[in-house]
Formats: sequence, C-alpha cells, structure tokens
Amino acid sequence: MSETPSSLDQHAAGILLRDVTKRFPGQDRPAVNRLSMDIPAGDMVMLVGPSGCGKTTTLKMINRLIEPTSGQILLGGKDITAANGDQLRRGIGYVIQAGGLFPHMTVAANIAVVPAMLGWDKARTTRRIDELLELVSLDPQQYRDRYPKELSGGQQQRVGVARALAADPPVLLMDEPFGAVDPITRERLQDELLSIHADLNKTVVFVTHDFDEAVKLGDRIAVFAEGGHLVQYDSPERILAEPANDFVRQFIGSGAGLKQLGLARVSNVSPLPVVSATAAEGPQALLAQAVSAGQDAAAVVDGTGRPLAWLSVAQLEGLRLLPAERAPQLPTVQAADTLADALNAILVSDAGSALVTDAKGRLVGRIDAQLILAAVRAQRDAISSVPQPPAAGSPQSPASSTDAGRP
Ligand SMILES: Nc1ncnc2c1ncn2[C@@H]1O[C@H](COP(=O)(O)OP(=O)(O)OP(=O)(O)O)[C@@H](O)[C@H]1O
Ligand SMILES: [Mg+2]
Repeated sequence: MSETPSSLDQHAAGILLRDVTKRFPGQDRPAVNRLSMDIPAGDMVMLVGPSGCGKTTTLKMINRLIEPTSGQILLGGKDITAANGDQLRRGIGYVIQAGGLFPHMTVAANIAVVPAMLGWDKARTTRRIDELLELVSLDPQQYRDRYPKELSGGQQQRVGVARALAADPPVLLMDEPFGAVDPITRERLQDELLSIHADLNKTVVFVTHDFDEAVKLGDRIAVFAEGGHLVQYDSPERILAEPANDFVRQFIGSGAGLKQLGLARVSNVSPLPVVSATAAEGPQALLAQAVSAGQDAAAVVDGTGRPLAWLSVAQLEGLRLLPAERAPQLPTVQAADTLADALNAILVSDAGSALVTDAKGRLVGRIDAQLILAAVRAQRDAISSVPQPPAAGSPQSPASSTDAGRP
C-alpha cells in the first residue's frame, strides 16, 4: 500500500535535525540557531517558547517551505534536501492556526486537496472525506457541503486537522492549531488529537504557546529561547521536575507540582480497599462489614458492582434502607482519569476520598489526597534518580548510564 508518492511510506517516520541554522537575509540574529533534535517515529513532540523564537521556521524547514541556511534534516533516515519539495509535502500533513482553510471551497473540497493531487477517484475521495469528518467529530451529512465561513472557529480547526490527515501522512506538523478557540473546545480538540495519535501511528510536531497544552499532549517538549536556541528537550515529567534553568522555570509558570498531577493517572496508584454491599443486603450488614474492616465509610453498589452511594459509619447507623439509586454528587473517578481529576473530585465532595471504578464503571477501591501526594512524590523521586540524558548536540556525559539505579 504505497499511496503516498513521497519516498516515505505510511508508517510513522522519525525526524532528525542536525545542527540546523536559518538566517533570514537582513536579520542580525539567526531565526534558528544550530538546532539538533531527534524526534522519534510515532512521538508527539511539542515546540514551545516566546514569540519569534523560531518555532514556525523550524516546522517550515521540516516540510521545506523554508530552506535551512546550514545543517541537515533527515526524515525517515533520508535527507529531505534530496527530495522534491512538492512530493515531500504530500507526505507531511500541515495544520496552521485557524485551520488555514480555502474560503471559496467547501469542507469536502478542502479535505480533498491532497487526494485530488494524488489522483484518487471520486468514490474513494468521498469515502475518505466522510471517514475523516467522523474522526474529528463532525457529522459528514451536515458539514460536507458547508463553506468555512459557515463554521465556528473550532469546527474550522477540526476540518484543518481532517485535511492534514487526508492522505494518511506519516508526519503531521501543527502550528498552534488550537490557538483561536475557547478553552472547552480546545480541551475537546486536544482529547481528539490524543486519541487520533494513539490510534494512528504518526510522528507529530506541534507548536504551542501554552505550556499546559504541551504537558498534556507531548511525549517530549522542546523549550526554545529567543534567537532560535533550544534550551531543554525532555519528557514533560522531567521538565516539570527538573527545569534546566530559570528561563524554563519561568516558562513553566507557577504550579509545576500541580501540573504533574495532570500527567499521572489514577491507574498508576493502587487504590485503598472499600467495603460494599447491594441495597438489598441492608444497612446493618454493610455497617457490620465496615466496622469489622476498620473502615469509617462504605459503599452501596448495584447488581453489577457500580457504586451508588458512599456512606459514613455514622450515616449508616441512622439508616433503615440503603439507597438503590445513584447519589447525584457521588465522587467517582475512573482508572484513566488524571490525579488532578481525582484531587478535584475529592475537593468538591465532602467524603475526603473518591471512589475508583474500572472502565466499565465497577467499583475497585477508593483514592484519597494522601495517596495522591505519595504518588506525586514517588514520581518526582523516580525522575530525579534517573540520570539526565546528554542534551542534543552536547558531548556524551561519561558517568551516566541509562541503567543506573535499576536492578
Ligand atoms: N520570511 C522571513 N523573513 C525575515 N525574517 C523572518 C521571516 N520569517 C520569520 N522571520 C523572523 O525569524 C524569527 C523567527 O520567526 P518564527 O515565525 O519562526 O517565530 P515563532 O517562534 O513561530 O513565533 P510566534 O510564536 O510569534 O509564531 C523572528 O524573529 C521573525 O521575525
Ligand atoms: Mg509561529
């Protein structure tokens, strides 16, 4: 299946930048300065940094909209300067701010731009358009024939993402794709991108001004400073735990610890045990179980094990019947939720802990604030005990071994 006419196949391709510099004519400082980065195939790498630090220039050098002044860029192991620029770009999806849609073309025609260049037939193109609109949660029936001006900003950005994915390119470059939408739509678009990235094996390079977005989406984050200089290139966990210098620290902003909560999942923590009974078993039975287990609260579950209520021993003592309906404010979190979600659930409930359920909603235990704090500390300690890899382009540090500290 080699539909992409570039030398790349559909599999994710790694990107290697070697000592890449871009000097625009008449500028005293380079826009990008001796940049070396290894972007592994299938990773999502986030470029962050202040305005004018060379993020867009870096993206445009990867798809050869801009030629580097010096240095080398390899895509899937091949030097891109040897490739034909147009062909290269057909194998690289490119999303720019506000979608960058052609205003005089319908949604369908916008998505079909690259398939048309590739000479796909009508049936195949139409199938692909519908498939992509569904992927970005737009009903094809409703949106296929609209013009960009008949869409909201967030919808335009979705179409921009669909268009970039049209020919299933192994590489996706995204330049502040979610910059112009409200925070709620932005979060939804981010979640969609995460699930698309998990499903389709693609290398994504994503530019953002928003450090929280970088932490949420990135396998790695590259922090740039003025003058196109790469300051730190690392996992979000590591950048939060060990910022390379004050510039990075400033860029992270306040609340590095809280941001770490957004990275760890409830499934990373072993939940505390919970005693439970169905409503039919009655309050006395549940109370007896709680007391004998030394617990000061217990859960009521339905026939399939889904939690309905979370009651303290004192509440149980005053009850004749157990509730058979789900309590409206029941604090529950799922294994896939972040520890930030869990802490939030705990803070807004008065129970002091939240019930943890599996993907089917069945009760597996509970989580409290202490457990969350312990998990974040353990995560920080684990990061600090692993030696720092040498920075891109810097000499190998002789003392470090990636296995240090592991049995
Ligand atoms: N075509 C050009 N000619 C001359 N200078 C340019 C050109 N394009 C960009 N520059 C300069 O290169 C530097 C880097 O620009 P670039 O667009 O890559 O920044 P950026 O990090 O994407 O910024 P922003 O966050 O504002 O989008 C800036 O100083 C900019 O003025
Ligand atoms: Mg830019």
